[in-house]
Amino acid sequence: MPRGQHPTPLRWMGGPDGRLQLLDQTELPGRVVRLDCRHPREVRAAIRRLAVRGAPLIGIAAAYGVVLAARHPGFVRETTRLASARPTAVNLAAAVARMLALDTRDSALLLAEARAIHREDEEACRAIGRLSFPLLRGAVLTHCNAGALATGGPGTALAGVYEALRRGRRVRVFADETRPLLQGARLTAWELDRAGADVTVLVDGAAAALLASGRVGCVFTGADRIAANGDVANKIGTRAVALAAHDAGIPFYVAAPLTTFDPKTRTGASIRIEERAETEVLGAGTRATAPKGVRAWNPAFDVTPARLVTALICERGVLRPPFGSAIAAVTGRR
Ligand code: MRU
Repeated sequence: MPRGQHPTPLRWMGGPDGRLQLLDQTELPGRVVRLDCRHPREVRAAIRRLAVRGAPLIGIAAAYGVVLAARHPGFVRETTRLASARPTAVNLAAAVARMLALDTRDSALLLAEARAIHREDEEACRAIGRLSFPLLRGAVLTHCNAGALATGGPGTALAGVYEALRRGRRVRVFADETRPLLQGARLTAWELDRAGADVTVLVDGAAAALLASGRVGCVFTGADRIAANGDVANKIGTRAVALAAHDAGIPFYVAAPLTTFDPKTRTGASIRIEERAETEVLGAGTRATAPKGVRAWNPAFDVTPARLVTALICERGVLRPPFGSAIAAVTGRR
């Protein structure tokens, strides 16, 4: 893919009897490897091992997975398994539910719906970029990867940075490396560097010092699920960044499409947090980084309380506290 272009993390190849092609994000930044999926089982496995990841993108991948499921036996079993591949991002189960609501196994109809989900996410990201751009102040700190590799468009947290680049303004971005799977160092740095942004990676533990140093003007992160009261589930470590930003008086923005809002979940306390394998923390590749026999706690996400969030940016606007009424207004749920 040429420099300066957004990476395409997934695409449907061919017509209704085609296949889903994924960019294997576990191989980045070292190698660009594409995976061809012809069975929903392969899509589920790719979601579970984070070959495809990011809340909006796993929803899109699962929607295409439903198209694949329609041509195999065990449609109900396979779609149920797709919907539950990861529990925290509401986009995943919501996208599968939207596909199943068509109540058809007609591949052409299902493919049209999956394409619509994909296209709508791209449009939402672009709108989020336009709304985020005026909020940019100085250098941006971000956590995990909520860019083009995590969505059907230019990302959520990074959409404003891409909008700035499009307008010829270069923004400096500090990217937390994001332990344990390094989505910030491997993915955010990769895609921003390719786009011509000025990106600096730091270890997660350095974020509070950076925020206190006055070198950052704002924080932008994405979200996996936003509860009705504005509590935000996002990559583990986000809450610590929000606390440090609050302490330093720096705005903490969360950018997410409406598909990430879950007005049925009242507060963050009810959001199920995925726990992943201990081995992700206890080693790096094949090398052990902790003594044998030691245990690890590996939550993939945490919840940032709404009181630490300056604004939520979705395609319908910039929502300010009190979030309860603002979220009810954009999601149409009271
Ligand atoms: O475990 P991951 O890599 O899927 O976690 C991704 C994040 O936490 C993102 O910030 C979130 O999904 C938003 S992506 C636009």
